[in-house]
Amino acid sequence: MEIRIINVAPEAQKPKPADESTLGFGKRMTDHMFIMHYKSEKGWYDPSIIPYGPLSLDPATMCLHYGQEIFEGMKAYRGKDDNIYLFRPMENIKRMNISAERLCMPLVDPDFFMDALKKLVLLEKDWIPHGEGTSLYIRPTMISSEVALGVHPSNSFIFFIILGPVGAYYPEGFSPTKIYVSDKYVRACPGGVGNCKAAGNYAASLYASSEAEEMGYTQVLWLDAIHRKYIEEVGTSNIFAVLDGVLTTPPLAGSILPGITRDSVLCLAKSWGVPVEERQVAIDELIESQKRGTLKEVFASGTAAVISPVGLIHYKGTEYAINGGRVGSLTEQLYNEILQIQYGNKEDPFGWRLKIS
Ligand code: COI
Repeated sequence: MEIRIINVAPEAQKPKPADESTLGFGKRMTDHMFIMHYKSEKGWYDPSIIPYGPLSLDPATMCLHYGQEIFEGMKAYRGKDDNIYLFRPMENIKRMNISAERLCMPLVDPDFFMDALKKLVLLEKDWIPHGEGTSLYIRPTMISSEVALGVHPSNSFIFFIILGPVGAYYPEGFSPTKIYVSDKYVRACPGGVGNCKAAGNYAASLYASSEAEEMGYTQVLWLDAIHRKYIEEVGTSNIFAVLDGVLTTPPLAGSILPGITRDSVLCLAKSWGVPVEERQVAIDELIESQKRGTLKEVFASGTAAVISPVGLIHYKGTEYAINGGRVGSLTEQLYNEILQIQYGNKEDPFGWRLKIS
């Protein structure tokens, strides 16, 4: 399929952010977007890069009612050499197709997806910020577009990719965050769609996150839905703890998102000889270890947040400081290493980086 390109005239383009230190996350979008449409009898058609702008949807469009919607989160990085890099983009593309299958949505040919992504990012190259820790966030999204109110898988879809320059995801930046353990609400349950990037997972998380935020916490630490016992994820990221010298994270057992940063953390730590374990960790074990002094570090990992240190955990009315509220050494080492690889400053032993210009 040939991608049609309709350029925004130079004089109509939006001004680029003047001060990259105030970018925040997800507040600005670039000038263009990629879009294509799907009908079950026709497949994907009309792929185009067009001026960024609103979608016009009939109020009875199914995605507005039943949440048949999935997305991905990726980033493009500008190296010091001014080269542009993507980080393990095929992993996101594969994950989007896994989400699509689970949500009864059509797959996108991975090579075509990559081609569309590269064309769009390169067209918007000047939007990629310069400072380390800044990047161009990439949001591929698929929504159901059939106009109907009966509950059934849609027969038409829209796939689009939008981009926006970003800085740190959390206002804390790389400073330790404060986490609230929710034993009342859950994010996902076995057999559900917790391992997919389905929009509804995020809607389901909002109530607990708002409560946590109102109490002064950055994010929620989710427990498993059945026992309310085992740690699962933190906010929109995967969770890691250094317990008795072992870098430990919950296994991918269906309700946890298979994070690409999570996988990168595991690969790097193993390659450094750090003992690594994927196993269930009870919140009580975490708290007991903190009391005994054998819990040394806790951090979250994700595309948006990269590596985000946890400095404090609130559980059942008590606050527990992790590592005296300071960033742990492995947390910092992982953060630096991932960033150096992403920005092209370091050797890339796993072949994760894709230079696109
Ligand atoms: C990401 O880490 O890219 C995410 O998608 C998290 C969030 C912004 C939804």
